Amino acid sequence: MRFPQYRLRRGRAKPTIRRMLQETQLSISDLIYPLFAIDGRGAKEIPSMSGIYHLSVDRLRDEIEEVLSLGIPAVLLFGVPDPANKDERGSEAYNKEGIAQRAVQAIRESSEDLVIITDLCLCGYTSHGHCGLIRDGKVENDETLELLDRIAVSHAEAGADIVAPSGMMDGMVGAIRSALDEQGFADVAIMSYAAKYSSSFYGPFREAAHSAPQFGDRRSYQMDPANAREALREVGLDIEEGADIIMVKPALAYMDIIRLIRERFDHPLACYSVSGEYGMVKAAAGQGWIDERAVTLELLTGFKRAGADLLITYHAKEVAQWLSD
Ligand code: PBG
Repeated sequence: MRFPQYRLRRGRAKPTIRRMLQETQLSISDLIYPLFAIDGRGAKEIPSMSGIYHLSVDRLRDEIEEVLSLGIPAVLLFGVPDPANKDERGSEAYNKEGIAQRAVQAIRESSEDLVIITDLCLCGYTSHGHCGLIRDGKVENDETLELLDRIAVSHAEAGADIVAPSGMMDGMVGAIRSALDEQGFADVAIMSYAAKYSSSFYGPFREAAHSAPQFGDRRSYQMDPANAREALREVGLDIEEGADIIMVKPALAYMDIIRLIRERFDHPLACYSVSGEYGMVKAAAGQGWIDERAVTLELLTGFKRAGADLLITYHAKEVAQWLSD
C-alpha cells in the first residue's frame, strides 16, 4: 500500500501526535559533563573553549552544586597539573595528593550521589605529552600498563565511581580491572575509551589540558579515522577484558561506528562529543549562522538515534536547562 492510502503527514499533524510518535528522547539522565580541575585558586575561562573553565578545587564545589541542581547525574573529571610537576613518567598522575585525586575528594565530599568518572591517561602529566612511557622514541605499551594501574587505584582511593582509561594502550582495561580488584575496588567500574580515533577534533582540548604531544602524533595508538571494523575488534577486546561501559570518540564524524557497535554489542554505550565539535557549534552560533540550542539538541538526538545511551558533552549544563524549560 502506498499513496494515497498512506499519508505519513498524518503522524505529523500536530505537536501532541508528533510527541507520541517520537522514537528517540533526550533525557537529562543521559548527560555527562566534563570538568577541568587546576591547582591554585579561581576560575579561568579556557580560551579555546568558550563557556568552559579551569576550576580550582574550591571552585569545583560551586560547579558541582550547579550540576546537581540541574539534575545531571555524572561528571568526567580531568586533572590539569602544574606544568612544573610534569615528568617523563607522568608520576603526578598517581600522586595521592595530585590535582585529580584532590578534586575527586572534594567532589565526593560535596555529594555522595553524583557519579564521578575520572579520565585516566598520562598525556596531561608527561613532559612529552604522550599517553604512555617513551622508550627509544616510541610509546611503550606494557610498562605503561603498570602506571595506568597505579593511577586507577589512586582515583578509586580518592572516591571515583568509574575510571575511564583513554590512552588506547592494548590490554589496559584488563590490567586496570585486575589492579582495582586486587586493591579492594571491585565496585569501581570501567568506562573504556574503546574506539578512540586519532582525531583533529581534539585541538581545543589539548590547549585546555596542556596535553599536546611534544613530538610526533598519536597515530601509533589512537585509531585511524578510516577504520570501522577495527573499532568492533577494539570494543570486543575491551568487553572481554571487563569494560562496563564502552565509549566512541569523537561522536559527530563517527555516528556509523556508534550504530555498528550498538548492533553488535549489548553493553552500555557512551559517545564523547569532543572539544572541536563544541567549538564548531559555538563559533557558528556566535556568528549568528546557526541556532545553538536547536543545533545542539539535534546533534545529541542524532547520537542517541545512532545508538548511544550516554552523551558526554560540554553543552551538558545548557542542555539540562533547555530540557527542563
Ligand atoms: C586524553 C584525552 C583527549 C581527550 C580526552 N582525553 C585528547 C587526546 O587524545 O589528545 C579529548 C577530548 C576533547 O577533545 O574534548 N587522552
